[in-house]
Amino acid sequence: MNKIPDIASLEKVFFDEVLDLTTKISDEWPNIEQVGAGKTICLLFWEPSTRTKLSFEHAAKKLGFNVLDFSPENSSLKKGESFEDTILTLLAMQVDGFIIRHPEDNISKKITSMLPENVFYINAGDGNYAHPTQAMLDVYTMKEKFDDLSSLKLTILGDVNHSRVIPSQLELLKKYSSKDINFLGPESLISKNFSPSYSEVSEDFLVDRDILYILRIQKERFKDDDGIDETQFIENFQVNEKFLKNTGFKGFLMHPGPMNIGAEITRDIAHSKNSLVLRQVENGLYLRAALLSLIL
Ligand code: CP
Repeated sequence: MNKIPDIASLEKVFFDEVLDLTTKISDEWPNIEQVGAGKTICLLFWEPSTRTKLSFEHAAKKLGFNVLDFSPENSSLKKGESFEDTILTLLAMQVDGFIIRHPEDNISKKITSMLPENVFYINAGDGNYAHPTQAMLDVYTMKEKFDDLSSLKLTILGDVNHSRVIPSQLELLKKYSSKDINFLGPESLISKNFSPSYSEVSEDFLVDRDILYILRIQKERFKDDDGIDETQFIENFQVNEKFLKNTGFKGFLMHPGPMNIGAEITRDIAHSKNSLVLRQVENGLYLRAALLSLIL
């Protein structure tokens, strides 16, 4: 398998291999095998990114890849070249693999079918559809704390509807037999597809949960009728000292980033001892190195 458009199209055995290699690379970092020597990858990011783009770049360089950084803003797309012709042009330059983030839902399927068999591809986030490497690094981080994910108690809080991380994460957690997953936030941000969901918290509501996975409000993906009262959201759902005390939550906090400090979470909680946020970022580096090693 050398194309990763989403989670659903891949077998669990592949993820087992990725997670095992992530541990090996984490143990060996920074002295990892130069398996990418002589190969060229191209990063194409149509949307902003800090974690995904730079961890892929850092991992690829450590593996010995030559890395091309395609910037849509400074490319011939600005002169009217199409997406398809851009990819064909890069293929003609003998690029061996592509890492692509794009705002269009499900463009990863189209890209997968466009590319020759010997060229690898990893979806770095497409629209609301998928963010498979974020899901993999999240599940890796969860497994570091709870090896048997079948008994994990996970609550996902915030803007589930506009998240591309959550569909991928739910697909992957299903492969690891996780069943106790619920959702918390305003009804306008959590559709009926995500169940069970709760729009109110009561005392000790989260007392038995292992992980609280927090999402920012992703306004850049809102449609005209997606209204949200942010003041009300902060009042009811911001993860702060008072919220943790009231809900009795004592587990680990995760967030895919970027965090909006002062909105869905406060700074002291984001960097508290139970926060795995920076561990997620670090694991993302090792996991992307593992993935690149397996699919080249
Ligand atoms: N989680 C995530 O995709 O972060 P970036 O947008 O910074 O890559």
